[in-house]
Amino acid sequence: MRKRIVVYRKVPQSVLALLREQHDVIEVEQVAAASRAPLIEALARAHGILGNHMKITPELLDAAPFLEAASTISAGFDAFDVEDLTRRGIVLNNTPDELTETTADLAFTLLLASARRVVELAEWTRRGEWRASVGAAQFGVDVHHKALGIVGLGRIGSALARRAALGFGMDVLYCNRTRNHEAEEAYGAQWRTLPELLAQADFVCLLVPLSAATERLIGAAELRQMKRTAILVNCARGQVVDEAALIEALREHRILGAGLDVFEREPLPPDSPLLTMPNVVALPHIGSATQQTRDAMALRAARNLLDALDGRITSTCVNPEVQVVLEVSRRHAG
Ligand code: DGY
Repeated sequence: MRKRIVVYRKVPQSVLALLREQHDVIEVEQVAAASRAPLIEALARAHGILGNHMKITPELLDAAPFLEAASTISAGFDAFDVEDLTRRGIVLNNTPDELTETTADLAFTLLLASARRVVELAEWTRRGEWRASVGAAQFGVDVHHKALGIVGLGRIGSALARRAALGFGMDVLYCNRTRNHEAEEAYGAQWRTLPELLAQADFVCLLVPLSAATERLIGAAELRQMKRTAILVNCARGQVVDEAALIEALREHRILGAGLDVFEREPLPPDSPLLTMPNVVALPHIGSATQQTRDAMALRAARNLLDALDGRITSTCVNPEVQVVLEVSRRHAG
């Protein structure tokens, strides 16, 4: 049976064509909450939705009484209330695999750029301030053979650990809900508690998913546990860090710097103090933003949605427990 899919993010034509082979597709622009009438109208008849980054609120789900499946073009699925989806019998899939290496590249870029002050000194050079050989005022800090602390050693964390240990001779420390024996063996990764990691690492890189347990994981107290010479890199979600506390720590030079791809509010407001701090490298959430990776993610998300609409629960399903809910409602219907 042909079903209706609402796509709320620009995806390649080839991905739309794949969806259209089996179902009807309505493309809806991602808009501010105040002007969502076209989206709400489209949701009224939708069986599937595909997109990313837009918060899928209970109000939007209430407007979608036939919704069977949601597919996010992202590894993170914090735009959804997973328990609520499950209660409603809606299957959620994500794309955890396609962006691993690309996001690890970006995390390492932030680490290097912050340590060697690449953005700050490129701007300084562009302004014509390079008038003599550089001195201590322009020196950065070494990355190679330093200690990298990874908070969240999953797929991306492991890819970062590989770059750090095998490419740059770094000691890798990590904390994670469970031990990662593979990374311990392959990259010499050493398990630490969070306070130990914060106290020992020269670079702290956040790669945990956002959840109730990780929201504001790094606040004033944690920033105080870091070395004054350490750099914080956040490629997870802005809400994992208490941003006001981070701004204060950077202002007071309680840490050396920060490389940030994610923020509490995105897009980052232009008046954010982070944008005026020379010791901050701020990027517009580009962890997975290469053409190749974004195309691969969109294709995976489309295939995930087609599977889910066909009633298949695959390995990228975030809430496999939804099967129980679906089974019960099938029995009631029968
Ligand atoms: C993800 O996939 O979660 C990245 O942050 C890009 O959205």
